[in-house]
Amino acid sequence: MNTKELTAALNALAYPGLSRTLGELKLISKVKVSDNHALIELLTVSDDSYLTVKSAIESTFGNEFASLNITKKIQVQKDINYGNSAAPNNRAPYAKNVIAVTSGKGGVGKSTVSVNLAIALAQKGYKVGILDADVYGPNIPRLTNTDLEKIKWNDENKIVPSENYGLKIMSVALTTPTSDTPLVWRSSVAVSALIQFLEDVAWGELDFLVIDMPPGTGDIQLTMAQELPITAGVIVTTPQLVASDDVSRSIRMFQDIHVPMAGLIENMSYFVAPDTGTRYNIFGTGGGERLAARYNIPLLGQIPLDMDIREGSDNGEPPVVLGSDELKNYYREVVENMFKAVKFKI
Ligand SMILES: Nc1ncnc2c1ncn2[C@@H]1O[C@H](COP(=O)(O)OP(=O)(O)OP(=O)(O)O)[C@@H](O)[C@H]1O
Ligand SMILES: [Mg+2]
Repeated sequence: MNTKELTAALNALAYPGLSRTLGELKLISKVKVSDNHALIELLTVSDDSYLTVKSAIESTFGNEFASLNITKKIQVQKDINYGNSAAPNNRAPYAKNVIAVTSGKGGVGKSTVSVNLAIALAQKGYKVGILDADVYGPNIPRLTNTDLEKIKWNDENKIVPSENYGLKIMSVALTTPTSDTPLVWRSSVAVSALIQFLEDVAWGELDFLVIDMPPGTGDIQLTMAQELPITAGVIVTTPQLVASDDVSRSIRMFQDIHVPMAGLIENMSYFVAPDTGTRYNIFGTGGGERLAARYNIPLLGQIPLDMDIREGSDNGEPPVVLGSDELKNYYREVVENMFKAVKFKI
């Protein structure tokens, strides 16, 4: 193979688990073949996708050359190529709107927010599904009290989603024998599983599909943006992370991959002592507002750090259903603000 032939073959190679080629995803930066030695430079966004693509190339072309040197192009933020997310596929034509809930860091309350936001939408009379895209740490079944359910198929060979609190629920946890079964998947496998959940689950018609994303800005976020027309991105953060690069990275990623942003939710925003009613701004005030202003996105809500939110959520009793009126209102207000910020298709 010469340089030209290898370039063509690489561009035609499928990204593992996706129906897209490396060429379509614009992942090949440079190719050079001389004396049967090949040099390939990749334009991947994350280390995960670099390793996935590298091993796919090695197993396809490893025997063709005396040596195969695959490197990753070091790039400045601006040059990141996120593939074809400006004109995404639509793997979920049954959903009128897709809301992606994400955060730069783990443990900030994404899953809790996703569930309560989805239920608040259902409480307004909409048909809502929630997809747990956090395949490595799926929490949605526990939060919705569906964690004992097992996977079922209907007559058309589609997976039947769990249902509770007015939501249709799909999580990889439904497919594992016990809730603590570890999932040690390559990201390409995780991505394929999620695509299957979009295509092979009997969601029915949905007004909203809410996606609880894993933390960070990796392959799964990227795939979702390429495979779904996301109507609105919601970023969840905590006050102490507001100023951090992780949050900025999430916002920048949404902006770079052309996902319209509904706004920012500051979770665990402050604490009101239940005995005295005194409000403590443990991490200071105004962080969420400043961040929202800096990126010109709405601040959708500030949800306090509250023991009942923690307890209810972890027991599968979502505060927007079973909490006090005050707790319910935090999530309902977020939904109202989201409707002000985004023109949904209803
Ligand atoms: N406003 C809140 N007040 C008190 N506890 C909260 C609040 N929001 C979330 N929690 C608790 O914080 C913990 C982490 O929340 P959650 O699992 O929703 O975060 P996450 O961002 O989805 O985490 P991961 O990155 O692991 O998926 C949970 O125990 C949850 O009950
Ligand atoms: Mg989570």
